[in-house]
Amino acid sequence: MLNSQQLSDYQRDGFLVLENFTSHADCDALLTRTAELVAAFEPPQKNEQKSIFSTLEQEQTSDDYFLESGDKVRFFFEQDAFGDDGALRQDKFDSINKIGHAMHDLDPVFDAFSRQAGLDEIARGAGLTEPLLLQSMLIFKPPRIGGEVVWHQDATFLHTEPSRVLGMWFALEDATRENGCLWGLPGGHRMGLKSRFLRAPGGGVETITEDGSPWPENDFVPLEVAKGSLIIFDGMFPHGSAANRSAQSRHAYTLHLVDGICRYLPENWLQRDHKMPLKGFN
Ligand code: FE2
Repeated sequence: MLNSQQLSDYQRDGFLVLENFTSHADCDALLTRTAELVAAFEPPQKNEQKSIFSTLEQEQTSDDYFLESGDKVRFFFEQDAFGDDGALRQDKFDSINKIGHAMHDLDPVFDAFSRQAGLDEIARGAGLTEPLLLQSMLIFKPPRIGGEVVWHQDATFLHTEPSRVLGMWFALEDATRENGCLWGLPGGHRMGLKSRFLRAPGGGVETITEDGSPWPENDFVPLEVAKGSLIIFDGMFPHGSAANRSAQSRHAYTLHLVDGICRYLPENWLQRDHKMPLKGFN
């Protein structure tokens, strides 16, 4: 449960850091399970299509492998994972950008982590009347090739009417400026939504700019946190992260929640099979 000081900080800043939220043992258990999933994943052969995720290249978020991943467990490589010869440059585990987007419903270890005690109360405290777990991602930010994530608001990608989306970002390892910690813009959740990323009527996706003004680059602050910390942030909170050129990975797990009393847009990229409706924490 958030106390009144935490609640007012969250409402003022658009984000809140909760240190020591998850035990190191629970962080490690999630990473052990992640390693098992990666070990069982067969990477594409040298001449096969590769599914890469980069926030710098939109065409990679418009392919079917990505657009159909809302109710699956799928693997996306780093932009720099493959050398000119088409082979992985680092081992497979250190080549993945992320796994997404429904481990919280499909994998028992992720399910248990995602529905651990306390999260329901936090989500309700942050303003969600009926919290529903929409999306999960294991974000690797691997050593040396972990890609930059450009400034964005999650409500650009996951929209409800009225807009009520909550991000939960679990540090599974220490996140520092060196290994690409999160950066955010305190108070920026009140700036309004700058763009919308939607499924296009003719197939694929499109980005619609609502406010083309530049981000106030110099006002973003680093959110360096220790392993086990939880950062919660509003769907309108501007954030991003630098590339990881260090020798240390920066593994994080994220959940995105929507409010069941708000309308989930049919134009959102993330859609689920009707046989797999969204569930809450229980
Ligand atoms: Fe984000």
